Amino acid sequence: MISRLAPAESDPLWALTTAFAHDQREEKIDLVVGVYRDAEGKTPVMQAVQDAEARLAASAASKSYRCLSGNLEFIDGISRFLLGPDSPVLDRQCTIQTVGGTGALRLLADFIPHISPGATAWISDPGYVNHHPIMSAAGLKLGAYRWQEQEHDHSLDLAAAMEDLAEAQAGDVLLLHGCCHNPSGIDPTLEHWQAFSDLCREKKLIPLVDIAYQGFGDGIEEDAAGLRLMAREHELMLVVASCSKNMGLYCERTGAAMIIAPDAKPLENIRFTLERIARANYSMPPDHGSSVAAMLFQDPEPWLAELEACRRRVADIRRDLADELLKLGAAEKFQSLRYQKGMFSLLPITPAQMDRLRQDFGIYGTTSCRINIAGLASHQTPAVAKALFAVS
Ligand SMILES: Cc1ncc(COP(=O)(O)O)c(C=O)c1O
Repeated sequence: MISRLAPAESDPLWALTTAFAHDQREEKIDLVVGVYRDAEGKTPVMQAVQDAEARLAASAASKSYRCLSGNLEFIDGISRFLLGPDSPVLDRQCTIQTVGGTGALRLLADFIPHISPGATAWISDPGYVNHHPIMSAAGLKLGAYRWQEQEHDHSLDLAAAMEDLAEAQAGDVLLLHGCCHNPSGIDPTLEHWQAFSDLCREKKLIPLVDIAYQGFGDGIEEDAAGLRLMAREHELMLVVASCSKNMGLYCERTGAAMIIAPDAKPLENIRFTLERIARANYSMPPDHGSSVAAMLFQDPEPWLAELEACRRRVADIRRDLADELLKLGAAEKFQSLRYQKGMFSLLPITPAQMDRLRQDFGIYGTTSCRINIAGLASHQTPAVAKALFAVS
């Protein structure tokens, strides 16, 4: 029977990571996987996380089962972090803890047919590589809308996005990245958010905001401004959140799924439905990461100071890389790297040029030309700029 199994390919991202590990060149640079690295190229455990873990270990509380929804203090903390501590929307939302942002995406994708059977999920192109597989694995139809202007300044192409979304039907889902768009680094302005919000209202689309990098763009409040605008204006909205990057809890799989309703009445029914979906998959989410995160939300200053340092580092690398490229006389299109937000950018080069970066210079990005800006150690910036100049 096993011979009937269709041939499967290794995940391309992880295949590149393996190729990197086998590359013998000392000067090789890994810009593939989306993890934050410090100036020495390490992905350290935040001090605030280490302190919370020490307190957890000292208290040695029980490892007995938690609630189906997860850790209630975490749920309260992340809801306030996403919507703002005084948001009136807090009274009309239901949040449950999930297995990372990925688990939240799948949970909500499984939830969508309960409220909108036959819905199409509209995903940006380019977009996060896992949006498509998750939505289609849950049985949703898929639509794509263009995101990035290709010819001139590589900014957000709102007109093209709107043209593609003209095909969307009432009850469809519009998936937007809350901030630090993965892979392009191109974020909507508040005017753009308003245009997407108006579109959702006019066409009766359900907004789904996936926010995996809050704090990595302009700051924790600024990065949530689009999500909060949408939340104020819509009676039905879905939110996916991840603590993988902004708390560095990657392997602890800590995230949340939020559903915003018109009022408090349906919230219990929503929660029971989400819990039933989760119960049929993994029962309940792991506790360690959410216990740590709950402590960070309760006493946020030390954590937020560390997060701010990460944010500044990413912004500095962007500036330094753009400055180096300017010095070398590289094409103007490379200056878009300076203005983009968060950990990722799509290099304005061709896949063949991306191959040359890997083969000739040992610089690894994805085949779609995405690089993890936060993976660049400070001393590597001039070498990357020179290589980019050479291949372009
Ligand atoms: C846009 C987006 N959503 C969701 C995720 C998944 O986050 P997690 O690692 O918490 O599952 C990522 C991670 O790269 C992402 O970029």
